[in-house]
Amino acid sequence: MKSKNKVVIVAGGASGLGEATIRWFAGKGNRVVILDLAEEKGRKIARELGDNALFVKASVTEEKEMQAAVNTTIECFGRIDILVTCAGINSQDKVLGKKGVHPLDTFNNVIQINLVGTFNAIRLVSEQMAKNDPDDEGERGVIVCTSSAAAFEGQIGQVAYSASKGAINSMVLPIAREFASIGIRINAIAPGIFETPLLMALPENVLEALGRTVPFPNRLGRPVEFAQLVDSVVENTMINGEVIRLDGAIRMQAR
Ligand SMILES: NC(=O)c1ccc[n+]([C@@H]2O[C@H](COP(=O)([O-])OP(=O)(O)OC[C@H]3O[C@@H](n4cnc5c(N)ncnc54)[C@H](O)[C@@H]3O)[C@@H](O)[C@H]2O)c1
Repeated sequence: MKSKNKVVIVAGGASGLGEATIRWFAGKGNRVVILDLAEEKGRKIARELGDNALFVKASVTEEKEMQAAVNTTIECFGRIDILVTCAGINSQDKVLGKKGVHPLDTFNNVIQINLVGTFNAIRLVSEQMAKNDPDDEGERGVIVCTSSAAAFEGQIGQVAYSASKGAINSMVLPIAREFASIGIRINAIAPGIFETPLLMALPENVLEALGRTVPFPNRLGRPVEFAQLVDSVVENTMINGEVIRLDGAIRMQAR
């Protein structure tokens, strides 16, 4: 699908990889929707981008909020062509930690936001995509989910996070197969370590050490490189049902 003159929703679009994706697609002449809980940041980005950008406050985990966000997008922009799901949180808890066993509520929370939230966005947005007229290739929409290298090599303490991202990977193929008949493609990108606000809060020496663990290029990923791959996936009709690593060949160690 050509990524021009389209309507793009990015869940988690107010920060990091999602923000870079919003800016990339806005820069290519698309209308963009920043769906996020971070109101101040989201509104600021939307204001900066002008009339072709919209901020909607919603949690991906909430059925009604997500449906309202989809409705607002349709009211304002008339359609949805591309969905990118970036909303997510990290977790750092051992199964048997110093403070006791892994709290069940933190495990649940990570699964809710990263996995159930991704699914919630997919199901409600795809309902709208299915109403689009197909393009020359028969395409009605493209969905790109955000997984993680931790889905493959989860580190100690990442059990909830790795489980949520592994499940995203496992959703991609059955959804791609189901949506084949309506011309909606779905893929996931599994980033390694990227320079986002989450990571930039770490001390400089820790960031440098993290960057050195990436074989080549020997540095952290730049959010714009994520956006660039999202765009390639959108534009290349043959990429479907796949999880693509974007990680400079890093393979995470146990800790
Ligand atoms: N940064 C990395 O190195 C890295 C590596 C691998 C995977 N990822 C994944 O990429 C995605 C984006 O990460 P990032 O580093 O840009 O993080 P980030 O914290 O900069 O951005 C995440 C955004 O999601 C939003 N969000 C959180 N919960 C939400 C909810 N319930 N509903 C709506 N929005 C919500 C936050 O407000 C924030 O704006 C995440 O899924 C993360 O797991 C990041």
